[in-house]
Amino acid sequence: MNTVVLLSRDTLLLKQLQAAFARSAPQLTTVLADDPLARNAQIAACWFPLPGSLAALPNLQVIHSVAAGIDHLENDPSCPDLPVCRVVDPGHRQGMTEYVRWAVIHYHRGFDQVLEQQRQQHWERPLQRAAGQFKVGVMGLGSLGSAISQDLAASGYDVRGWARGSKALTGVQTFAGAQNLNPFLDGVEVLINLLPLTRETRGILGQSTFEQLANGAALVNCGRGGHLDIDDLEQALKRGKLRGALLDVFEQEPLPADHRLWTMPGVTITPHMASAASHDCIAEQVAENFRRLNADEPLLNCADRLLGY
Ligand SMILES: NC(=O)c1ccc[n+]([C@@H]2O[C@H](COP(=O)([O-])OP(=O)(O)OC[C@H]3O[C@@H](n4cnc5c(N)ncnc54)[C@H](OP(=O)(O)O)[C@@H]3O)[C@@H](O)[C@H]2O)c1
Repeated sequence: MNTVVLLSRDTLLLKQLQAAFARSAPQLTTVLADDPLARNAQIAACWFPLPGSLAALPNLQVIHSVAAGIDHLENDPSCPDLPVCRVVDPGHRQGMTEYVRWAVIHYHRGFDQVLEQQRQQHWERPLQRAAGQFKVGVMGLGSLGSAISQDLAASGYDVRGWARGSKALTGVQTFAGAQNLNPFLDGVEVLINLLPLTRETRGILGQSTFEQLANGAALVNCGRGGHLDIDDLEQALKRGKLRGALLDVFEQEPLPADHRLWTMPGVTITPHMASAASHDCIAEQVAENFRRLNADEPLLNCADRLLGY
């Protein structure tokens, strides 16, 4: 029997995934962790699984993240050493592209400034510049960052991107490796983070990064909350080194109601909404990897657990 167990502490997500698997992967038996059939599961589809829940599955062969990232598995030290796959949804790219377009236009055209001015009933036209004079930096040029940087370049922005390895992307000046981080950041006016959260990238959005940017730059964090040093952000906003930050992801989600980020001047919060893989796409990709597992074919979208993405 082809059995998938759905593991998450998010009970609403579990219900939505169960419905999607029933619709889009009816050939699979899909169960939750408390079902006795879970012991038969060969694949676990996960989003922040409870610690120990993966280690309790004796027949498990593949761990499947239901997201683009795999960092949520690192919370579980007993996570078995098995292949880890992730979901790569073209709809994911579309959603993230829309979110980042809005963010870049917001800061480029000065909507942050005029929204603040309206609160003070103050009329002042912000300085307007052509997109080609506005420098945008994209950290991470994978499935999402490569599509987004090229989309911004096609809209006329002066775009540069940074990844571990070298890339060739239409209209984008690319930089590779830690030694080229500062040249990449130099003078950037909106910095967009689309890195995975790994040992190397945790805390990368901190003072030493902010210092390289243009004065009055803005930060857009669509990666993970663990990328951001909140104390350094607060200092950079207070000093005017940064004029604003649009934050979509947080170490603790939902962001607690009394968290200081909610009221930090210059910070805009969105509730991890930049993009999400569709539930049906998740079911289809897990089902395809199940077929490949049974046929002894290479799995799709495998992550490198040592690199962490
Ligand atoms: N906010 C949201 O709603 C949302 C939605 C989806 C995803 N995300 C976040 O976005 C992240 C990226 O997704 P993706 O699908 O684009 O990931 P991906 O395809 O795995 O791409 C990751 C990119 O980051 C680069 N990278 C990794 N470690 C690096 C390092 N130490 N230095 C420089 N570059 C490094 C990689 O470089 P190479 O290409 O050279 O390997 C690659 O270009 C996810 O991990 C997740 O955290 C957020």
